[in-house]
Amino acid sequence: MKVLILPDRAAAIARVAEIIVAQVSCAPASVLGLATGGTMLPVYAHLREAHRGGLSLARITSFNLDEYVGLPPDHPASYHCYMRENLFDGTDADAARIHLPRGDAPDPQQEADRYEAKIEAVGGIDLQLLGIGRNGHIGFNEPTSSLGSRTRVKTLTEDTRMANLRFFDDEAQVPQFAITMGIQTILSARHCLLLATGRKKAAAVRGMVEGPVSAFCPASALQMHPRATVVLDPDAAEALTLRNYYDHIHPGGRSRLYSELHRG
Ligand code: PGA
Repeated sequence: MKVLILPDRAAAIARVAEIIVAQVSCAPASVLGLATGGTMLPVYAHLREAHRGGLSLARITSFNLDEYVGLPPDHPASYHCYMRENLFDGTDADAARIHLPRGDAPDPQQEADRYEAKIEAVGGIDLQLLGIGRNGHIGFNEPTSSLGSRTRVKTLTEDTRMANLRFFDDEAQVPQFAITMGIQTILSARHCLLLATGRKKAAAVRGMVEGPVSAFCPASALQMHPRATVVLDPDAAEALTLRNYYDHIHPGGRSRLYSELHRG
């Protein structure tokens, strides 16, 4: 796991945006796995800015991590709506290659299976963007999710429902279920890129980076991934025991690879 601790929140966000822009610039037909949540809003603002500066998203294919069961794509709290408003409407992304699970599918499990098959059919995800929940979830894989799981229907914890209450009119409106990529679906991506900012995420970040690999902290499964990059601001990194070591390897969150240091 590559742990990059940036000097502040804005720098952490910019670093993640820079990695995504580099991916799309180098491989314009990349398959991106995309995330929602408050943390990603400024990342998408950077991508829209990059688009105005000349970056084309016209050839990307994208798959979002999850969607609430029961919400149609035009529901204002749906992730379909979030993605249109916060990223796609401001770019040249091709609607035909943008994928999110349909929360209003008549058979949500069948929809989950169809979604998983579609990811496989395009050859898998090149770069998977991830946030992390305060309880360690990635996607909507709540604690005790199978580490071998694929896209399926998950019951949300009360903690997650309350964390997302701000996007709904009242508590009764917050869905109980979501269709989410599974942990194994996420681990199948060729590169996983997780962004966490703020003190509220510090305990989950510690579990993910330094805890045992455990379904109790689903993000800890990233320890098994050969190419996982975790980008943090100092608040999110606050509980890490080996913080000095991560700073030593990547000062200020910059890449400082062994091979670069020992060139020649
Ligand atoms: P947040 O959500 O960015 O709104 O904190 C992250 C997540 O739950 O994955």
